Amino acid sequence: MLLLTTLLLSLVSLIAAQSSNSSVFVYNGGDDTSFTFALQAVKSTGDLYFHMSGPSGNSWLAVGLGYKMEGALMLITYANSNNDGVTISPRYATGETEPVYQSNVTVDAMSTDPVSGYLTANGVCRGCVTWLNGGGIDLTSAAQPFIFAIGPPFPPLQSDSGSAGLTEHAFVGHFTMDMPAATVQSNGNVPQGPFTSSQSASTATNTETTYNPAPHIHGLVMGFVFIIILPLGSLILRVWNSVRYHIVAQCIGLVLFLMAVAGGCVASTMYNRSKNFNSAHQIIGLLVMVAFLTQLVLGVMHHRIYKREQRKTMRGWIHLYLGPTIILIGLVNGILGFNLAGETFVAIPYCILIVIVGVIYSCIRFFSWRRKRRAAKDPGATMGQSMPYGNVRPPAYREDSYRSAGEPFSSQDVPLAPYASTHSVAQVGMPAHEPRSMF
Ligand code: HEM
Ligand code: HEM
Repeated sequence: MLLLTTLLLSLVSLIAAQSSNSSVFVYNGGDDTSFTFALQAVKSTGDLYFHMSGPSGNSWLAVGLGYKMEGALMLITYANSNNDGVTISPRYATGETEPVYQSNVTVDAMSTDPVSGYLTANGVCRGCVTWLNGGGIDLTSAAQPFIFAIGPPFPPLQSDSGSAGLTEHAFVGHFTMDMPAATVQSNGNVPQGPFTSSQSASTATNTETTYNPAPHIHGLVMGFVFIIILPLGSLILRVWNSVRYHIVAQCIGLVLFLMAVAGGCVASTMYNRSKNFNSAHQIIGLLVMVAFLTQLVLGVMHHRIYKREQRKTMRGWIHLYLGPTIILIGLVNGILGFNLAGETFVAIPYCILIVIVGVIYSCIRFFSWRRKRRAAKDPGATMGQSMPYGNVRPPAYREDSYRSAGEPFSSQDVPLAPYASTHSVAQVGMPAHEPRSMF
């Protein structure tokens, strides 16, 4: 009796499926990852009529005709620029990178009443049963493979362009469809809902939450280097007068910067907008890298000459001005980076952070300069307190080349060179200060 009932039910559902001539895949993964795809194929024309929907909190939704990204024709849906409809973009993926828009594939959007809170695409992909490179859908297959993917909530995407830049999916999965159940001979139509559960389709398999941290790690490390480490390295030299720790800080900055450049190169290969390495952000970033390495070489060369000859050099002069230039250009390039990633809105808090750090930096420099000026005017009053060197004479080369007699000691006058060898004179009655040796 039970067997008979089961058989009857199966027969009824089979007849229902065939009468609607569509296959329906429904994935109920909760608010963020729900996804519906319904399909009807037309044998005579090769057209694919489809319905695709999911929560509009996601930047985009997509289905791929194939069992993996590589070689799949993809139908990608995102909100149009007015956010009152959708753009359906046919794209082709050559691997696990952003698929490329195919202007030769025609997808006609069919009229639809937008459902609030949902991205809903009703359309027809003309002749898509067979597509590029000999790939295609087997209309006789009872388990034709498909993939689906859901874009992340941020950054949001609204565009009328078929080639709008995407951000890598947050969720992917696989399913199969029974194509004979979804095929009509001619006169196709977009499958009509409501779609509450899968019909003539498998459940989702190999579902996976995906996240590629490379772009964010790249941005975070770059921000840390240009907003924190490099200005700190500058303060260490100008305020605390330590050449050794200045070198340590800037070398840490350089190593982190080079690692972040490597991360930027990995991120570059993921997206169409960056894979040719020709965006302003990437070019400026690479130029900053060259300048940064040059800065290191100039600093070392200047220091060597200074140690030997106790004189200022052109290399030291360039080093002095190239440093702040690198920091400024790097900070501006961060804004271009957010722009490239489609995260322009993050540039505002980023700029606010830069202003806050800039104000703190300027205050420290100003108070340090004022303290040193007072100390220079009245060495007795401040001896051993306000000057980091107590009553140690400033280095000789300051007196004869950087500073004229009587001119106050300036925070700019900190040499990239040791104080210890020639000036570590005995300091009677002064607190103990470590001699400043370079290495
Ligand atoms: C910005 C665009 C995209 C990028 C950068 C991208 C990148 C990637 C990467 C790096 C993986 C490997 C993830 C891992 O192993 O953890 C992957 C896997 C996957 N992607 Fe994408 N993808 C994009 C768009 C799409 C679209 C539009 C679809 C679907 C229609 C899709 C479907 C899949 C699926 C199903 C997987 C699992 C592996 C497989 O079976 O091929 N992807 N993707
Ligand atoms: C001065 C040096 C640089 C700074 C300050 C910098 C900073 C940034 C920032 C803040 C972002 C936004 C990250 C995010 O999505 O959250 C970004 C994105 C990006 N950067 Fe850089 N970057 C620099 C150099 C480079 C270099 C040399 C390359 C590669 C050649 C590169 C490639 C990229 C790419 C491809 C993105 C966009 C990733 C996406 O589309 O999501 N960057 N960068």
